[in-house]
Amino acid sequence: MSHTEDHEGTRRDFLFYATAGAGTVATGAAVWPLVNQMNPSADVQALSSIVVDISGVSEGTQITVKWLGKPVFIRRRTADEIESARETPLSDLPDQNARNANIAADADASDQNRALDESEEWLVMMGVCTHLGCVPLGDGAGDFGGWFCPCHGSHYDAAGRIRKGPAPENLPIPIASFLDDSTIQLG
Ligand code: FES
Repeated sequence: MSHTEDHEGTRRDFLFYATAGAGTVATGAAVWPLVNQMNPSADVQALSSIVVDISGVSEGTQITVKWLGKPVFIRRRTADEIESARETPLSDLPDQNARNANIAADADASDQNRALDESEEWLVMMGVCTHLGCVPLGDGAGDFGGWFCPCHGSHYDAAGRIRKGPAPENLPIPIASFLDDSTIQLG
């Protein structure tokens, strides 16, 4: 690739990112354009729990809450999203670790190890790209029906697992649990 082409590619990426950011502002959602790449460590998470009411989250939608200064995505997945995530062979995943603070550190990245509940309907993840810390776009964005980080083109699937692009790891799952059917505790 020549130097000129390279420059154009960078500029295109920037313009797309700026457009995506403006769209998010228009919907009234909070925007974190760049977040420190480091995610909160397990001991910091445990010290500052918050409780999130998820009763208003319908199937196929998600909310973003701010916790420890960072966005957390809470998505109620559709049956199609769950099925596609379940059917993906581990061998297709660049990062085969669950990255789930609630289970063993060496657990694999199967869908059941990523979802918060047994029906695998609920997915809770830090909304911080594992490349350089941008906040990925959600609601089925990207080539794998999950999240897309426009900063440098990382595609995450419906289980928040990295599938394509420079991000090295799956979106991390923080310490989280259900207090009851409509309440999730983070930390
Ligand atoms: S920060 Fe997400 S792809 Fe670079």
